[in-house]
Amino acid sequence: MSSAPPHGRVAALVPAAGKGERLGPGIPKALREIAGTPMLVHAVKALAASPMVEVVIVAAPEASVEEVRSLLSQQEFSADVSVVAGGDTRSDSVARALISLPDDIDVVLVHDAARPLVPVEVVTGVVAAIRDGHDAVIPVMPVVDTIKSITEDGQILGTVPREQLRATQTPQGFRREVLQRAHAEVDSSVTDDAGMVESLGIAVHAISGHEEAFKVTRPLDFLLAESIIAKRRVR
Ligand code: C5P
Repeated sequence: MSSAPPHGRVAALVPAAGKGERLGPGIPKALREIAGTPMLVHAVKALAASPMVEVVIVAAPEASVEEVRSLLSQQEFSADVSVVAGGDTRSDSVARALISLPDDIDVVLVHDAARPLVPVEVVTGVVAAIRDGHDAVIPVMPVVDTIKSITEDGQILGTVPREQLRATQTPQGFRREVLQRAHAEVDSSVTDDAGMVESLGIAVHAISGHEEAFKVTRPLDFLLAESIIAKRRVR
């Protein structure tokens, strides 16, 4: 893509329209509370904690747009926060938020509402790497488990060497035009935005993620998230 690094304003898109079925039935996952505060509020605060992030656009479940708007309007954020209706897939939700980006934004972060405790240094590190000239940047973590590929009936096919494997976190960062091109040209069945950019043949750069940027997926993750918040409060 073009070579001059972007120096304009930074926006963060927050896909928050998932049902969170792995947690069982109930309210949308992004509205579930951690230490008395909805996960989405933690996530928006975590992004706005970076002075680089000036705009946050949340993609909420279609049926909860007004509720999410009212929830976020009761909070003080040091960024302009708006809410749009999300879509049927994560990628649709990101695409809908992308459409409402202000014109003067040239760096776009995409951050899962389900990663509410991402430390500010990860957010800042992703933006800095884009401003250093990378088209796309993702925070990653080493894989700690030994990974097997298996058949549906439980036969082990092999062990995947884990030295080269990394688990991807968010925020993922992009030059605006790179993310827009990916959403215009790539089949949205790819599970993350960086994957869409990779399939255009554009290099994606990895930086170190953080264990506190984990995705809240299963019931046990809420206990972990609450312990992290308690630990931050006593610091
Ligand atoms: O389901 P998964 O954990 O991969 O979802 C990752 C993020 O994408 C979550 O923050 C979820 O709310 C969001 N999402 C969305 N729209 C969908 C499905 C998921 O915004 N239709």
